Amino acid sequence: MNKKIKWGIAGLGNIAKKFASDLNLVAEAQLVAVASSDIHRAESFKKDFNADRCYGSYKDLFDDPEVMVVYVAGLNNHHKTVVLAAIAKGKAVLCEKPLGLNSGEIKQMIAAANNNQCFLMEALWSRFNPAIQKAKKWSDEGRLGAVRFIYSEFSFYKMDADPSHRLMDLNKGGGALYDIGIYPIFLTYLILGIPEKISAQSQFGPTGVDVQTSMIFQYENAQAILYCGITNNSDNEAKICGTEAEIVLPGRWHDTEAITLIRNGEATTTELPTLGIGYTNEINEVNQCIAQGKIESSLWSNQNALELALLVEKVQEISGIKN
Ligand SMILES: NC(=O)c1ccc[n+]([C@@H]2O[C@H](COP(=O)([O-])OP(=O)(O)OC[C@H]3O[C@@H](n4cnc5c(N)ncnc54)[C@H](OP(=O)(O)O)[C@@H]3O)[C@@H](O)[C@H]2O)c1
Repeated sequence: MNKKIKWGIAGLGNIAKKFASDLNLVAEAQLVAVASSDIHRAESFKKDFNADRCYGSYKDLFDDPEVMVVYVAGLNNHHKTVVLAAIAKGKAVLCEKPLGLNSGEIKQMIAAANNNQCFLMEALWSRFNPAIQKAKKWSDEGRLGAVRFIYSEFSFYKMDADPSHRLMDLNKGGGALYDIGIYPIFLTYLILGIPEKISAQSQFGPTGVDVQTSMIFQYENAQAILYCGITNNSDNEAKICGTEAEIVLPGRWHDTEAITLIRNGEATTTELPTLGIGYTNEINEVNQCIAQGKIESSLWSNQNALELALLVEKVQEISGIKN
């Protein structure tokens, strides 16, 4: 790629900082502008991450002709509005997960991107993790035999968070399922596709968000046991087990830097370090798609994002999650 892809960031909170530090590691990317509802936050972010300029409104960012792609890093309940506003100005968009609060919002965003011929991708960074890509390849090639069982979890302790924290607030799209449950669901969807049947149960915290959700995904000849929770720490390992071999993705599996293949009791581990925190992988994918004039990624398409949201909705319906 001989031309740099020029990035803007809308919403300058915790994840935006991590993303921007990784963006600065990618030679083909340039952070040209950042925008926050708070101009002081925008000014200090610009300085910290060497952006060329900053704005106190997202609109000014979307009006900036040099910005080719906007990374949307605000709260879940604002994704749709911000994404639609960026697309209306012809910008390519990478939006934090979950792309929308529900499948209806996601359908609207996809329609807008298609109508405007704008690139759109959910920032499901684990899809671009090299170890997870290898797990998908090995599974598709049949190296595990037939996959019969997946175990995947994502949990951490966050019960001490303020009730207004985005994780605890139903209105901000809070709860364990929305925040981290999408990762175990993503892994089983990636490997086994859409299940025939889902069972799920949740525990709820004082603000009404789900704080633990356990799921069983039933396939014709396989099962997946999935868990997310903000009630406990855990090693956050994942396993994909077949009739001939198994894969272990060591914790935290969703941003792992290694993969272990176990066959006949013999384990072989391959180290696959990622550059920076790991957001560089999705940044490279977006850069390449834009350079090639694509309006979606073939690795994580908008149909994939929609199907993931439909699975999340099904779990919500079964386990009584309200948002
Ligand atoms: N991929 C990952 O690894 C990962 C990890 C964590 C989070 N996420 C996702 O990233 C997104 C942001 O999470 P975060 O932890 O970065 O959130 P955050 O730091 O709490 O907030 C991010 C931004 O959202 C806006 N915002 C916050 N509170 C607001 C409020 N009450 N009203 C209006 N706007 C508000 C602010 O934008 P302004 O700067 O414009 O004011 C803030 O900078 C979420 O969608 C989350 O799911 C992804």
